[in-house]
Amino acid sequence: MTKKIRTAVLPVAGMGTRFLPATKAIPKEMLTVVDKPVVQYVVDEALEAGIEHIVFITGRYKGAIEEHFDIHYELETTLKERNKVDALEEIARVLPQAGSFSFTRQQAPLGLGHAVWCARQIVGHEPFTLLLPDMLKNGKPGCLSQMLGAYEKYGQNVVAVEECPPEEAFKYGVVGVGDGDMAGFQITEMVEKPPKGKEPSNLFISGRYILQPEIFDILESQKPGAGNEIQLTDAMVTLAENQRFTGVKFEGEAFDCGTKVGFLAANVAYALKRSDIAPAFREELELILNRA
Ligand code: G1P
Repeated sequence: MTKKIRTAVLPVAGMGTRFLPATKAIPKEMLTVVDKPVVQYVVDEALEAGIEHIVFITGRYKGAIEEHFDIHYELETTLKERNKVDALEEIARVLPQAGSFSFTRQQAPLGLGHAVWCARQIVGHEPFTLLLPDMLKNGKPGCLSQMLGAYEKYGQNVVAVEECPPEEAFKYGVVGVGDGDMAGFQITEMVEKPPKGKEPSNLFISGRYILQPEIFDILESQKPGAGNEIQLTDAMVTLAENQRFTGVKFEGEAFDCGTKVGFLAANVAYALKRSDIAPAFREELELILNRA
């Protein structure tokens, strides 16, 4: 029997320098894809998979995320007065159960591994999932639900992977592939930002993890790695000496909203799935493409 995954950790402390000036006063996680902030999609993915507690690793100037998930009396009163039923329902849907979201701060940008370590007291000694909000995954079931299938079968640690062109692998953490199939294979090695020609496969770790709490003890003394940052992948390599890591190739569409092209593509793809706006949007898009 595997222990239920109750807690999701979402690191949201990054400064979003790639999206300046948009992100000078607005957290990058609050940039919208169609009409929802990016972070909301990832929270929805976690809740769909049965997560009960969401821990945000936040930082200075990130208050808008906390506001987004809180009650907004003035807004609700105005919507009620104007009889805006749909908007009221959507606002109510976004509001988490009291006490089910926690926020703690990463005080300095020391790397993803350090951000995860900041969650250790809140998560406690139980397995958890880590979701990087830059990565939007559009699948049915959602990416975390797909991973939970492999977790129930193999236990221990699970990461979602995606394919990338070999020349892009140096941007990511890349895994080596052992026994199994794409719904659950043994990971034989993990390399963060492999130099060109040294990547173990074309499968990269794509922002979704199920991890055992022993990762926190390893992170505690983890030395900086690639980019002089405390890398989560390096700590996972140590954990893999004693525990299994299973790779799951996500079935669905994925968008790296940490890049401008990925973010714009996500907007187009999600808009084309919305029955209320897709027909009109498709017409506009065709006009634009014909002009370009
Ligand atoms: C992080 C991880 C890396 C992973 C990537 C995409 O890198 O360290 O292993 O492949 O996210 O999810 P970063 O984008 O922070 O450089």
